[in-house]
Amino acid sequence: MFGFLCLLFILCGEPGLCLEEHGGFTFDGDIRRFAVATNTVYIATQEKLYQLSHDLVLVRSLTLRGILRDGTDMGGAQFNRVSDSAQWNSTFSINVLMPFVGNESLISCGGTDGGCGYCEVLDLKDISKSLHSEQIQVGPVERSDASVAVLVNVKKDPIKSETFILTAVQSKKEKPEKPEKCLSDSHTVNLHNTDNDVRRGGIFSISDEGYKPSIKVKDVDVEFVDGFQISSTIYLLSNVRSGSGNNRVRLIWLEGKSSKTQTLKSFRGATLRVSDVGGEHSRLVASSVIPGGPPVLWSGVFSVDGTGTNTELLVFDISPDLTGGKTDSDPDPDFCSGTCPKSADPKQTPKTLKPKTVLFRQSYMTSVLTVKQKTWMVFFIGTADGQLIKLAVDKNYHTTCPRVLYRASDNRPVFPKIHLDQVDHKHVYVALRNQMKRVPVSNCSTYRNVHECLSAQDPYCVWCHSKNSCTFEDDCKDSERLSTPDDFQQKVVSYKLVKNNIGQLSLIIQTHLTVKQTDQLNFACQFSGTSCRNGPSPQFPQCTCILTTGTLPAEGLPVTVRFRLGNVSLTEQLKLTNCSEIRGSPTSVLCQRCINSGCGWINNSCSWANQGVDNCWQTVHLLPHHSAEVLLSPCSYRTMFAKQ
Ligand SMILES: *[C@@H]1O[C@H](CO)[C@@H](O)[C@H](O)[C@H]1NC(C)=O
Ligand SMILES: *[C@@H]1O[C@H](CO)[C@@H](O)[C@H](O)[C@H]1NC(C)=O
Ligand SMILES: *[C@@H]1O[C@H](CO)[C@@H](O)[C@H](O)[C@H]1NC(C)=O
Ligand SMILES: *[C@@H]1O[C@H](CO)[C@@H](O)[C@H](O)[C@H]1NC(C)=O
Ligand SMILES: *[C@@H]1O[C@H](CO)[C@@H](O)[C@H](O)[C@H]1NC(C)=O
Ligand SMILES: *[C@@H]1O[C@H](CO)[C@@H](O)[C@H](O)[C@H]1NC(C)=O
Repeated sequence: MFGFLCLLFILCGEPGLCLEEHGGFTFDGDIRRFAVATNTVYIATQEKLYQLSHDLVLVRSLTLRGILRDGTDMGGAQFNRVSDSAQWNSTFSINVLMPFVGNESLISCGGTDGGCGYCEVLDLKDISKSLHSEQIQVGPVERSDASVAVLVNVKKDPIKSETFILTAVQSKKEKPEKPEKCLSDSHTVNLHNTDNDVRRGGIFSISDEGYKPSIKVKDVDVEFVDGFQISSTIYLLSNVRSGSGNNRVRLIWLEGKSSKTQTLKSFRGATLRVSDVGGEHSRLVASSVIPGGPPVLWSGVFSVDGTGTNTELLVFDISPDLTGGKTDSDPDPDFCSGTCPKSADPKQTPKTLKPKTVLFRQSYMTSVLTVKQKTWMVFFIGTADGQLIKLAVDKNYHTTCPRVLYRASDNRPVFPKIHLDQVDHKHVYVALRNQMKRVPVSNCSTYRNVHECLSAQDPYCVWCHSKNSCTFEDDCKDSERLSTPDDFQQKVVSYKLVKNNIGQLSLIIQTHLTVKQTDQLNFACQFSGTSCRNGPSPQFPQCTCILTTGTLPAEGLPVTVRFRLGNVSLTEQLKLTNCSEIRGSPTSVLCQRCINSGCGWINNSCSWANQGVDNCWQTVHLLPHHSAEVLLSPCSYRTMFAKQ
């Protein structure tokens, strides 16, 4: 509830952020696939493949229309491109688009109207140069938004490793008939060669020493959401639906070791459980690894009830557990390698993973990208109504206020994948129907003074002394920076009202800043307003003043404090309130008001800070599903799972 109010405030309170126009590119058709490699962005639409520079300037485009020549006489069928105006009878629709930087190639695979699979290997720097083409199925042939393809490294021995294309293809219980001329060896999860060694079957071959290993599914529908590799482990995330209609979010771990067969045989599965009770309708919508493990932390957007309305951003620890029973003796309910029983076995219960935390609740989330910036995790979240939201979260999962970085003028859904600009790391690529936007991760210059800059708690921004402005961290020399601390703080400056044993009230002020050592020594505070005299000499980050008025006026006592840190100064205006006057029914909102007024919360009422605790953990509201919600600040709430 509070998170929502805060969001509203930001949406409407900062029109500058909402309405900005950003760099972008509009395509001839809707974006089907897009990929980013070093300084280039590749985009496949229905009829064209584009190569754009990292700042979205068109380098080249290639038509996907052509004539399909049947390979009846010799060799396979051939797809010949035609010019934009020429007659054509087929379109190569791309379902797999994968830059292979080490090989300086772009792998594009999909299907043609003939119903068969088709692949092309193009020059990474110039997509108009074709290096290889072949009629073969790699990934889905028909259009599918629920299949994934990723390059993986398999260690053959301690020094040698090989790159394969892992394809995980959407699977339906009722499989459509395929034309007989283009039958394929491909199953649900496959590993294809990337090198052209004919002795080993050639490029795209799935065979391994005479075998054709794969992972198949039992009698279930499987939709893949994401796949990636972290060190030797390969992760695959999917939604699985069996006869009963219930959905399970499944994670598969594969150990990329020795050979295709061994890698595919090594799989172990787990189920991601969103809540203890219910949850049979929850679905995984989008996925992003949180960089910086181990442990392997991962964030997922889940639809709680299977609709788009009710979505949550959750964090899981998905560190691999390959110790579990061998698949032969302890089979997986949904997946199998080698000899496979046909039907799903609901009695099998794989390992269950529960979320570490709920970070964000918001309707219609469709996409997520997680980036690490200093000690912060920054989540870029796309929504079905065309918004890009940024959420900075500290290592203790305290979230700062979400900010809208971009909003489309016409409710276009954001494509599930968001990518970071790999050249400057300061922009993200957001795909919206037929448009690609390159949105700055922060606009630090929007914060006009030191106070705004620091209280924004934007991990990308620092206050730069010499420029007298708020800038990106690397636009300012190290010695000139003043930055927010490494963890979430409610304020840049916090204070406490403390009463000593002879009844004297003092005001203790604390700054929450990261400053260099020399500036810490050069720390001073100046109080204006006659009713407060300096206490003991200030020591970074604290200073104290003793209140000289007997009572605090009902309307509050204004006090102005001026801090000096090195050659930067910071002014803060406070209004001191009599803590005993903060009264009402003991809700978390009242507790929050009490703490924010420099008071302490004890026995469900507000008192002087030294007599109470300074957080609102006592005010716990039980939510459904055995979890407890605790309000930490207007924009920050944390859900704890009481029973982990
Ligand atoms: C497309 O045209 C070529 C050449 O005219 C022909 O050989 C081929 O069978 C046609 N393919 C389809 C799918 O109609
Ligand atoms: C790299 O791509 C070329 C095609 O240009 C292919 O022949 C070769 O086998 C590939 N190499 C590896 C190591 O995948
Ligand atoms: C950043 O914000 C400033 C002030 O609101 C605006 O003038 C500028 O265009 C913005 N820059 C970008 C790249 O969005
Ligand atoms: C701040 O102090 C540093 C040395 O500590 C100096 O190099 C810098 O020029 C000063 N900046 C301003 C704006 O005075
Ligand atoms: C605070 O309010 C209480 C009564 O609500 C009063 O007794 C007390 O004197 C006040 N203290 C100060 C410092 O104003
Ligand atoms: C809080 O309440 C308990 C039990 O009612 C009491 O023993 C304790 O003294 C109270 N603490 C304070 C600081 O008033």
